[in-house]
Amino acid sequence: MRVLVVGSGGREHALCWAIAASPLLTKLWCAPGNPGTASVAENVDIGALDIPALVAFAQGNAIDLVIPGPEAPLVAGLTDAMEAAGIPCCGPSQAAAQLEGSKTFTKELCDAAGIPTALWERFEDAEAAKEFVRRRGAPIVVKADGLAAGKGVVVAATEEEALEAIEAIMVARSLGEAGAAVVIEECLIGEEVSLFALCDGEHALALGAAQDHKRVGDGDTGPNTGGMGAYSPPPALTAELEQEAMSRILRPALAEMARRGTPFRGILFAGLMLTGDGPKLIEFNVRFGDPECQALLLRLKSDLLAALQAACDGELKHFDLRWHDHPSIAVVLAARGYPAAPESGSAIRGLDRAAAVPDAQVFHAGTRADPDGTIRAAGGRVLTVCATGKDLHAARASAYAAVDAIDWPEGFCRRDIGYRAL
Ligand code: AMP
Ligand code: GLY
Repeated sequence: MRVLVVGSGGREHALCWAIAASPLLTKLWCAPGNPGTASVAENVDIGALDIPALVAFAQGNAIDLVIPGPEAPLVAGLTDAMEAAGIPCCGPSQAAAQLEGSKTFTKELCDAAGIPTALWERFEDAEAAKEFVRRRGAPIVVKADGLAAGKGVVVAATEEEALEAIEAIMVARSLGEAGAAVVIEECLIGEEVSLFALCDGEHALALGAAQDHKRVGDGDTGPNTGGMGAYSPPPALTAELEQEAMSRILRPALAEMARRGTPFRGILFAGLMLTGDGPKLIEFNVRFGDPECQALLLRLKSDLLAALQAACDGELKHFDLRWHDHPSIAVVLAARGYPAAPESGSAIRGLDRAAAVPDAQVFHAGTRADPDGTIRAAGGRVLTVCATGKDLHAARASAYAAVDAIDWPEGFCRRDIGYRAL
């Protein structure tokens, strides 16, 4: 198979790394990719949102399967455009990508399908939103309705904080048009986990779970980020709770999407809160998580490409996946200043030494390479340093040994990834 992966983060490097091991693969490209994907695929200089250029490339190179990493091209209609050109694409249509693109869409779907989630209300008027917050009190959650790259959510511990968030999002438009409306939600309390399923429109195959660490600082302090680290599997999600989440949350969502004539195909990512009343949905995403993907794929024994193709062909019903028993961990190395203002350009050395640490695997995210091969920081989240081990302690020791082998004074990471399970 001739395969094109779309995206340029640590998730896409991990996807390329796993797909490169498939016996089904004849040639792999990544658009636009990064210096890490260049080691397992051929990078193509086309941005992930340049849909016409991606389609032209796929046609010109007889691509058999397109695998989108991030949500933005899906929400912009990448799958529809590829399919109109006769090219299979393992992601949801623009209509189905609304599961991530619009919080209101997902909340209404939850209500229609009886999916357990936080109580919610949507406001297009800032004063009405503030009035609601004053009536409900804190803790309370304020979310921009549109796509805001993970920055549109404020979990407010106090009423004050919630009112400020409404002012910033709706009035000052700190997130642009994503803040034209807000969704205000009940604050769910519990352990948060990410559960993934591969979907073919009708069937959902559990892809395992991971726990992300969203705050920038140790002990879950500081601002929210795209994710500073993950480990898999999270013991908080027992096999029983995973079954419950699949049958009460993911499968009903899939059935409702099919019933509406917009079946969901691709990776469905359920952000769950394990509350005293069982798993409740925080949000859906229509793609793998980053860095959850990196942690999950280290544990996957089966051929990822075969699974993605089966999803595309509507043949997941009898598909089965095998996993390594060993847990895995992913530690994000970020550039100083992340998430507010990451510094670019510093040189990163010692990557070979890190890759030589037993059981470790380094994925690139925001990096670029000089002509002489020097790797430099070129983004907020710059590397994902991963490892497996006989238990989480061992995996963590290997991951941090690899982190410590990297010589990059301008970078930082959390030192406590996995602490909730240890
Ligand atoms: P999101 O951008 O929707 O992933 O939300 C960011 C984070 O906010 C989530 O990962 C949760 O930790 C938190 N969050 C979102 N909604 C709720 C809620 N209703 N109750 C508690 N925490 C929430
Ligand atoms: N790590 C969370 C996400 O990818 O949305």
